[in-house]
Amino acid sequence: MKEYRRTVKELRPGIFQLAGWMPDCHSYVIRGKEKNLLIDTGLPQAGEAIRTSLGEIGLALEDIDLVVLSHEHLDHIGSAPLFFATAMIATHRLAAMKIRLQDEFAMMNQLFGLSADGFRVDICLEGGSVIQAGNYNLTVIHTPGHSSGSICLYEADQRLVFTGDTVLTEGNIGGVFGSGSISDYIESIERLKMLQVDAYYPGHGPASKDPPREFQAAIDRATTILADSKALFNVVREKNRFEHIREYMKHLND
Ligand SMILES: [Fe+2]
Repeated sequence: MKEYRRTVKELRPGIFQLAGWMPDCHSYVIRGKEKNLLIDTGLPQAGEAIRTSLGEIGLALEDIDLVVLSHEHLDHIGSAPLFFATAMIATHRLAAMKIRLQDEFAMMNQLFGLSADGFRVDICLEGGSVIQAGNYNLTVIHTPGHSSGSICLYEADQRLVFTGDTVLTEGNIGGVFGSGSISDYIESIERLKMLQVDAYYPGHGPASKDPPREFQAAIDRATTILADSKALFNVVREKNRFEHIREYMKHLND
């Protein structure tokens, strides 16, 4: 179907973006000398588009050795079952737990109106895990915030990072869902900002243009959300402080 088509773009030699269209996500392929990696699989309906786009770069589904899921949301993991027979599936330990336990609230099944039955994860990643593809190596950076199990994948020699939904284009942030936390978000992006990065590639939308500026914009946005949420709680607290007066006023005309 048209809305699930993927547009293939070679970002660096052997590193490809299979661009999806909202609400589907982008996938990325690392054609390594020793292993072929796929980052994120998209919605369950994206399977045929994934198969076709892999074909455009000369790969069949069974040529993918390892699928790395950036986090547990269904728009990123939905087509993972296509690879169950021939590839290993890896994600952060906290995302893996939600997938194994079918935590539908955290995986946002209801939002997408889909189920994620039959999922499995073979490899639990931690921050600092290194995924070796031969000529390219991806370091796992645990970046909780959007969800507790979110990761970014950093290729230090290429100075690029795949950010999933943690940081989108122009420093937009992917929102705080289910298991996420805005204060974790701020700390995660501060760590991303310390990396030597020429480009970051998000799970949705265009690539970055100026990573340091965009990471700072993301920190500023997250900090504003934190301040707004504190202000909101203060309003609620103030409201409660006057509750007894309101109760008293109600009975004045009795
Ligand atoms: Fe997400």
